[in-house]
Amino acid sequence: MQFVLASHNQKKRKEMAEILGELGIEVVSLPQNAPEPEETGATFEENAMIKAKSAAQYTGLPAIADDSGLCVDALDGAPGIYSARYCEGTDSDRNTFLVENMRDKDNRTCRFVCAIACVLPDGQEITVRGECEGELLRESRGAGGFGYDPLFFVPAYGCTFGELPGEVKNQISHRGRALRALKDVLKNRI
Ligand code: IMP
Repeated sequence: MQFVLASHNQKKRKEMAEILGELGIEVVSLPQNAPEPEETGATFEENAMIKAKSAAQYTGLPAIADDSGLCVDALDGAPGIYSARYCEGTDSDRNTFLVENMRDKDNRTCRFVCAIACVLPDGQEITVRGECEGELLRESRGAGGFGYDPLFFVPAYGCTFGELPGEVKNQISHRGRALRALKDVLKNRI
């Protein structure tokens, strides 16, 4: 069965294809000319569902979408659903902004969150969530990954997401956990 992923990111498509392929699901990318809906939700789950429904409506295929971000406890969960647009500029600018906002904070606990929404051909709607706990560093470490990875320290591994090999990150990350939760739900529904 073909599922469309509401994203043009080939890395995400490949990671999803690997895990959902075990259920006989083929994951295809969203066509380039598909509309990009506004993410007006108040939660990761709502924004993921907005994207999944839009992709399902446009393609006529069952659809999957994810929405993710970094939630920092000392900042009341910010940047949260606004992680990609926390401030103008590059990933590096956003990291500098976050380090600055956290300068006086002693509580460094934070987590990456990923919600995945799925719309099935019979209209069933599914959402799952994966989280990964960490601590926010005061300066970047590691050149791997993307986004806030170099600031996100994982105590169990003694290093940041930016320092972990990609396959290890995929095993413990919020996205990997959400994907495996989705697989568990889907195996009883399709
Ligand atoms: P998206 O939902 O995948 O587009 O991610 C939203 C934003 O959250 C990204 O632009 C990053 O700033 C942040 N983010 C989500 N997942 C990760 C991750 O695994 N590492 C670093 N940053 C992430």
